[in-house]
Amino acid sequence: MFEHDVTRRRFMEAGGGAAAASLVMATGAAAAPPQRSGGVQAIGQPMPTGVVLSKTRPAPKRADSVGFAIIGLGGYALNQMMPRFPQAERAHVAALVSGNPDKLRQVGDAYGVPPQSRYSYETFARIASDRRVEAVYITLPSGLHADWTERAFAAGKHVLCEKPMALSSAECERMISAGRRANRKLMIAYRCHFEPYNMQAMALMEQNAVGQLRLVRTEQSYRMPPTNPSENWRVNRALAGGGPLEDYGLYGLQAALYLAREMPESISATGFRPADDPRFSEILAHVSAQLRFPSGAVAQLVTSYDSAGGNIVYARGTAGSLIMDPATGYAGNRMVLKSGRDQRELTPGDSDVQFARQLAHFADAIRDDAQIRTPGEMGLRDLRLIEAIYASADTGRTVMLNPDGTMRS
Ligand SMILES: NC(=O)c1ccc[n+]([C@@H]2O[C@H](COP(=O)([O-])OP(=O)(O)OC[C@H]3O[C@@H](n4cnc5c(N)ncnc54)[C@H](OP(=O)(O)O)[C@@H]3O)[C@@H](O)[C@H]2O)c1
Repeated sequence: MFEHDVTRRRFMEAGGGAAAASLVMATGAAAAPPQRSGGVQAIGQPMPTGVVLSKTRPAPKRADSVGFAIIGLGGYALNQMMPRFPQAERAHVAALVSGNPDKLRQVGDAYGVPPQSRYSYETFARIASDRRVEAVYITLPSGLHADWTERAFAAGKHVLCEKPMALSSAECERMISAGRRANRKLMIAYRCHFEPYNMQAMALMEQNAVGQLRLVRTEQSYRMPPTNPSENWRVNRALAGGGPLEDYGLYGLQAALYLAREMPESISATGFRPADDPRFSEILAHVSAQLRFPSGAVAQLVTSYDSAGGNIVYARGTAGSLIMDPATGYAGNRMVLKSGRDQRELTPGDSDVQFARQLAHFADAIRDDAQIRTPGEMGLRDLRLIEAIYASADTGRTVMLNPDGTMRS
């Protein structure tokens, strides 16, 4: 059992549990007109590398399958998510939104999307009357998530939004409010909540498999090749936020929270940016943070775009350790549970199921009103903590937190 019931309740209220999803479902007035993000625009890009479009059109789905519009035909959408739709029993690609007309045609043909359900960013509002589309899946650069979520809600669609939910807690709050007004659902595509190794890790922590948790360590790093903010949105502050933390580092933050199962009460952090490097003219290269939890456990997070690769999560407690390396990959994850002299490699299942499972989960939420495991409130919680990490890195001071993750004034 969880030792700190009050803390745990607050953790759930702060977006740590599916119960928070019900908040998104409050009904209200018609959707307000969308607001525009400051100065960033959706602009079509070339076909990403590595994309292999199938010559076989997807098989028809069952009658209650939810039609999704994919917004932004980038690397993750085309290489990972769209090819997994056939594995999700009641989710299918019904429409596409892209700023690159040639790519739109090629992908539309491959996925059997009729020309009338292919949209540009300029014609997107017409999707409101497209009855084939009930949900949108937003895979745009992160700085466009808030704006396009609001547009999708204004068009009456449910929203599955990629991580990070947005670039600030204020944007997240706007997105949640827009969903409530439109009476539509909002889910954040935190795929690890559907990935067998990470799900097993959550279950083990719930069973106190390492005893009382004392330490979580996470490291999500890689070395980014030479680039600059005009050619790569991941190093452009307006499109990406402050750096690797919102991107790769978010997996470490998420893991720390779902393993500790409580909200931190304080955060101290540092950031680093090498001088005269165009990759880091607008963003940090490296962020490290220490989260202290009310139970006394500590999480140490490190994320970098400028150090040799690693994707590691450790949880150590009074009775053992859980070692995940790699921890949160698309495939090839490994997990070892150590207790005294006992050491067991665990193989809870094929990580590949995570993509289709999250699509199926959102379709179930739409069709059956099932609770969403990764609701907008969870994305909001994470952006609050990211803001606290940056505040501490900026000031060099420890930031004290309220139970909902907001900073104490
Ligand atoms: N859950 C995960 O494991 C995971 C993994 C990777 C990425 N992601 C998330 O998915 C989102 C997209 O990432 P990605 O790696 O797919 O990015 P990407 O390959 O660069 O694709 C982004 C797409 O967004 C569209 N776009 C619209 N305006 C743009 C602009 N101003 N600059 C760049 N692209 C613009 C383009 O599509 P069109 O040409 O069709 O308009 C572009 O191809 C991000 O939020 C990222 O954090 C999640």
